[in-house]
Order: sequence, then C-alpha cells, then structure tokens
Amino acid sequence: MANTAELILEGKSYQLPLIVGSCEEKAIDIRKLRADTGYIAFDSGYGNTGSCMSNITFIDGEKGILCYRGIPVAELAEKSTFVETSYLLIYGHLPNKTELDNFSHQLRYHSMIHEDMLRFYDGYPSTAHPMAILSSMVCSLSAYYPDSLDPKDPAQVDHLVPRVLSKIRTIAAYSYKKSIGQPVVYPQNALSYCANFLHMMFAVPSETMEIDPDVTAALNMLLIIHADHEQNCSTSTVRLVGSSDANLFASVAAGICALWGPKHGGANQAVMEMLETIHKNGGDVNKAVAAAKDKDSDFKLMGFGHRVYKSYDPRATIIRKNCDVILGKLGKKDPLLEIAKRLEEVALKDPYFRERNLYPNVDFYSGVLYRALGIPKNMYTVMFSLGRLPGWIAHWREMHLEGDDRIYRPRQIYNGPTTANYVPIEGRK
Ligand code: CMC
Repeated sequence: MANTAELILEGKSYQLPLIVGSCEEKAIDIRKLRADTGYIAFDSGYGNTGSCMSNITFIDGEKGILCYRGIPVAELAEKSTFVETSYLLIYGHLPNKTELDNFSHQLRYHSMIHEDMLRFYDGYPSTAHPMAILSSMVCSLSAYYPDSLDPKDPAQVDHLVPRVLSKIRTIAAYSYKKSIGQPVVYPQNALSYCANFLHMMFAVPSETMEIDPDVTAALNMLLIIHADHEQNCSTSTVRLVGSSDANLFASVAAGICALWGPKHGGANQAVMEMLETIHKNGGDVNKAVAAAKDKDSDFKLMGFGHRVYKSYDPRATIIRKNCDVILGKLGKKDPLLEIAKRLEEVALKDPYFRERNLYPNVDFYSGVLYRALGIPKNMYTVMFSLGRLPGWIAHWREMHLEGDDRIYRPRQIYNGPTTANYVPIEGRK
C-alpha cells in the first residue's frame, strides 16, 4: 500500500502521509495541510478527525468491539475488578500482585477529603444536581494540592492519581447524603472500592449495614464497562483542557461538566425519565418511537444511537444481560425493564432506526440496573463519572507523559460579515 495520499488542489499535487494504527485504523495526516496549501480540513463535530494517537482503548463501531489495552471489555467485566481495570487503563498493563496491593493501599489510604471541604456542601441548595456539586468540588480539590499540580512531573502525577480516584468517590457519596439531609458517612478503609462507596451512600450512623455482595459485584461491573471510551466528548474535553497544562483536577472537573449533558452521560437519567413517562401513560412504546421519528419534534429516543457504534453497543449487551441476572438475584421486578425491552424490540424493527443504524447504547439499560441497586436517578450521571474517571486520568496522563501535548486549538471557517464599522448608539436601528 502506498504510504501517501495524493491531493490535487488548484491543479497542484500534494502528497499527504498516511498513518495506520495497530488495529488497522487508517488516517491521512493533514498536520501540514494549511502550511502547504492554505486550506484547512472542515469537520464540524470532529466525526472524521483523529485528534491524537493513543494506546489506551480501541473501538470498532461497525463490529461492536471495545477493548481496553487490547482486552475485550466483556472479559474485564466478567473477570476483573474496577481497581484492577483502572490500573490497566492508567498504567498500560494488568498489575502484578505487588502493584495491585500498592495501588489498592493508596486508594484506601487516600479516601478522606479535607474536613474543611465538608463545609462547602452547606452552601448548595438541597435541590442542587449532584453533578453541579461534583464538578465544583473536584475542581476545588486542586486548592489542597498546590505542590502536586505539575502535569509534566511523573512523580507529581502519580502522587495525584490514587487521590483523584479515591476522593472523588467520597465526594460523590457525600453529595448524595447532603441532598437527602443525612450526615455524611466517613469511608471505611477495610472495605473494597465499590463496597466502600455503597457504604458511604447507604449507611447511617445509627445502624450497622451489611453490604450485599451481589450489589457490590454489579456496581463493579457497571464501573468497568464505563471506564473508558477513547475520544468521546468528556474525554476529549479532559484532553483539551489538559492540553493547556491545566492541572488534573481542573481537567477532570471539565470532563464531568461535559459528561453531564443528555447527549452524553446525562442520557442515563434521561432514559429513565423517558421510561417512567411511558409507564405513567399506560406503557405504549409505539408513541415514543413515532415521536422520535417525527422531524418536527425535538424528541429523541434516549439511550439510542451513537457516533461510533453503527451496531449494538457491546456495553448495552452486557448491561441488558446483567439486568435479568441481578434483578433475579435481588428478587426484584421492574416494569421499566419490560418497557425498555419492548421499546428496543419495536425500534429495532422500524426502518427509521434500521436505516440509520440506531441501536441501544450504554445508557439504555444502565439506569434500570442502578435503580435495582438503590441508586437514585439524579446520581446516575455521577455513577457514570466515577466509572469514566480512570479513562479521563489515563488520557490526561498519556497526553502529558507519553504523547503529543500540543495545545488543542481547532480552526474555523469564518462566515460572518466581512467589513463593518462601529456605529454610535444613536445611529443604530
Ligand atoms: N432518536 C431518534 N433519532 C436519532 C437518534 C435517536 N436517539 N439518534 C440519532 N438519530 C437520528 C438523527 O436525527 C439523524 O437523522 P437524520 O439523518 O434524518 O438527520 C441520524 O439519526 C444520525 O444521527 P446524528 O445526530 O447525526 O448522530 P450523532 O453521531 O451526531 O449523535 C448521539 C449521536 C448519541 C448524540 C445521538 O444518537 C443521540 O442524541 N442519542 C440520544 C442520546 C443518547 O442516548 N446519548 C448517549 C450516547 S452513548 C453514551 C455516551 O456517549 O455518553
């Protein structure tokens, strides 16, 4: 195969280098395009733009493949733990026993947040969305580590990694406790990462709490399958903010804000609201499908469609299967799960969805599972943030310590007025 592509522009020929990734993904290198030709590449929404080289996660959207560092996500969801998968994503290999023990120790040891930060929670109204609290609290963490914020110093970065992973979990649980008016429950470092989170969420000082191992296992699986998804909106945001050499906390806080939107991680909450509405109105899924196809309506079938997957999202397959298993184990029945399955069945038979390759994505069934675990709806996107954290950290770290850390700065095609003059206010229409 030729290792250049020929571009003919205004009668002149240019050779553009080709790049081929380890899984045969192909790209045309246009980094010198503007300098050589005066043209830029136009790609709104970046659907065809490779913004970086990365060793972390591979997706084949046509075949429905998702691997972290080469390992299929289904295998990790079945055999690994979230802590181990986090290590894999961040450091590039599965940890040996000593590495895992050290990493787990660090996560346990750094689970508390500075006591002064508890007072921040008092400033939020009880109606505050936990994503608003989470993003600002995470950015505030940077105030407590002024000596560890240099993205170019590997020792400082590694000092922060377990702190970020551990403390954000605590912040997330506290934001829920505050929203329901209960006292915060301090972390119990004898517990595993997921069990500790569930304890902080659901324990009260007046009682002892048994943590159901099935619930812990389900949470572990959910966090693993959310752990990375290459250059999605929030991860690209973390890289973009990080590319200015902003610190890890600031970059992750920006990622949390990007994830919040209903087109991205906020979709899990939106799916459950949609299913609840269908349930309340008698369970007719056809109406929702018709509304989603109506071009005069803004309504979209939440939890359906994906920029990269043009087949069934492998994460949705795993969650759907686990919904049946976990609800069965917990002895729960959920009418919303039945509605979700019927909705999927009707949509997948419909030519509108078939022609556009719109399938359930990760958010379609995750809310049903979170609900079965007792997680309240406004915490679903927070749960997604906890899962995505190792991915954000891995990309931020890769960019600074291993990759190309040029500042992200896209160009545009200006389409506004060409010349205009300042008009004093009395002369304006
Ligand atoms: N319901 C109805 N129509 C849809 C949907 C949907 N959920 N998703 C896409 N379409 C239509 C869209 O209107 C367009 O139609 P047409 O060609 O007639 O204009 C066509 O399908 C292609 O869609 P697109 O908007 O060009 O696709 P995109 O890659 O820009 O957007 C998406 C991807 C995920 C934002 C979009 O599918 C969507 O809004 N889905 C619902 C929200 C959702 O579930 N988001 C979670 C995504 S997965 C997890 C994550 O990233 O956090």
